[in-house]
Amino acid sequence: MTDTIGADLAALFEAAAAAKSLAYAPYSNFPVGAAVRDEHGRLHAGCNVENAAYPVGTCAEAGAIAAMIAAGGRAITTILITGNGPILVTPCGACRQRIREFAEPETPIHIAGPEGIRRSFTLEALLPESFGPDNLKLRYSHSDA
Ligand code: THU
Repeated sequence: MTDTIGADLAALFEAAAAAKSLAYAPYSNFPVGAAVRDEHGRLHAGCNVENAAYPVGTCAEAGAIAAMIAAGGRAITTILITGNGPILVTPCGACRQRIREFAEPETPIHIAGPEGIRRSFTLEALLPESFGPDNLKLRYSHSDA
C-alpha cells in the first residue's frame, strides 16, 4: 500500500480495514469500515453497527465521525471507506450529509476494497450543491427585516 498511495493514505486504509474487521453486521453480512483524518492529523475509525430493529443500525462513517468528535476533532481533512465485494462502497445519502457537516467541497473521499483504494472523489462530486452549516450562518433573520 505504502508504495502506491503514500504513507498517509496507507494509515487511513489500515485504520478503516481494521475497523471493518470488527464490524457488527450479522444481518447484512456486509461489514464496512471508515476512517477520517482530522484537522490535527489524527485518525479516527468506525464500523457499521447493525441492530435487530434494522433501521436503528448505524453506518461506519457515522461511527468514525462520532469518534472524531468525541476526541475533540472538528474537521475532516480526508475520509476513506472500505467494504467487500466488487461494487464501490460509496457513502449512503445520509452519510454524505454527515460528512458534509465537517468537510469542505474539495475534501477527498477515498473508496477502497480489500485490496486498496479503488476510486477517489471529492465531497462536491458526491454531494453537489449541498446544504451545510454555512446555510444556517447566513440564514434570513426576522430581525434583519
Ligand atoms: N453501510 C455503511 O456502513 N456505510 C456505507 O457507506 C454503506 C452501507 C452499511 C450499513 C449496513 O450495516 C450495511 O452497510 C448494508 O447496507
